[in-house]
Amino acid sequence: MRKVKIGIIGCGNISGIYLENLTRTFADTEVFAVSDISEERMQAAAEQYGVPNCWTAEEILESPDIELVLNLTTPGDHFRICRLALEHGKHVYVEKPLSLSPEQGGELAELARAKGLLLGGAPDTFLGAGLQTCRKLIDDGYIGQPVAATSFMLGHGHENWHPNPAFYYQAGGGPMFDMGPYYLTALVSLLGPAQTVAGMTSKSFEQRTITSQPLFGEKIDVEVPTHIAGTLRFQSGAVATMITSFDVWSSNLPYIEIYGTLGTLLVPDPNNFGGPILLRPAGAAEFKEIPTVHQYAENSRGLGVADMAHCIVNGGTPRANGELANHVLEIMHAFHTSSDSGVYAELKTTCEQPQPLATGLVKGYVE
Ligand SMILES: NC(=O)c1ccc[n+]([C@@H]2O[C@H](COP(=O)([O-])OP(=O)(O)OC[C@H]3O[C@@H](n4cnc5c(N)ncnc54)[C@H](O)[C@@H]3O)[C@@H](O)[C@H]2O)c1
Repeated sequence: MRKVKIGIIGCGNISGIYLENLTRTFADTEVFAVSDISEERMQAAAEQYGVPNCWTAEEILESPDIELVLNLTTPGDHFRICRLALEHGKHVYVEKPLSLSPEQGGELAELARAKGLLLGGAPDTFLGAGLQTCRKLIDDGYIGQPVAATSFMLGHGHENWHPNPAFYYQAGGGPMFDMGPYYLTALVSLLGPAQTVAGMTSKSFEQRTITSQPLFGEKIDVEVPTHIAGTLRFQSGAVATMITSFDVWSSNLPYIEIYGTLGTLLVPDPNNFGGPILLRPAGAAEFKEIPTVHQYAENSRGLGVADMAHCIVNGGTPRANGELANHVLEIMHAFHTSSDSGVYAELKTTCEQPQPLATGLVKGYVE
């Protein structure tokens, strides 16, 4: 079986786990080149993971060897680099969010369709053992028909640990565009596509102070809302309540709960790949932990890329695909536009509920 040769653009904070898994875990992937505007980060990545080529982004795009471009730059560069990759005839997978606006996301999806290329986007945590087991429980009827859900991500931002956190407070950042993709992709994977969004947003702090190294003490101007609350109705009729916030020091709320006609499912952290999962059927005295029955409970970032590589070789639709990422992008925007306009936002995009992964997979494979 041939491996798909990948060129990675962006060797920053998140690149290590991708490099680790794409070079050592997955059967269908080979990292053929890395690129970063920081020579030091690029060389370090190549050396640590045995990548044979350190190239400029342009060299990756021009190379006939590269089939798939993995775009791990920060949100402001996602659209430009993805479009260039597609224009150069490469399949492309990008970290979240897909782009800054649904118009940009739609343009990428359309360009990929027109060129017969695959477009995919993070997150791929919904393919992990935790969320796949939840999907199986719902599909197999353990909570009956899902009628409602809650989804909470409350924290105080990333300036206490990320080495260069300014992008979290610029366009494409904020808690919804940063963390919303995990929660919304999980919800769409579990409940299907959404239809209507009502949102309210606020910004509680005009500036943030970096307390991580090496930029300790520097101020960041906050350009985006940092507390987003709202509701969304799914096409199935289920109604979810959602909060994402960088303005809250601590809270005691669950990650995601799904309420069905026959019981309640407590979904694990959608930013991770594993459990725990708790289920309480109607009438049961307490929640019981359900063991995960799928592969990939550990940090498997890159699983969506491996799934895409499998589709490049064998055909099929990648699960973490552009339609899904663009639908999630439109939902995230809709919370903001609904808040600005004071009216519900009716969504224009939709997507297929991604196919579940099988149980019993061998580690490194998606089929
Ligand atoms: N850091 C995390 O824990 C984390 C987790 C999940 C997802 N993400 C997402 O991953 C993306 C990257 O985040 P990060 O934390 O790794 O950011 P980062 O700033 O640490 O890394 C981005 C890297 O891209 C490089 N880069 C930018 N433009 C480039 C270009 N034109 N050519 C080559 N290199 C270029 C930068 O030099 C930098 O090394 C973001 O979209 C973020 O939302 C990050």
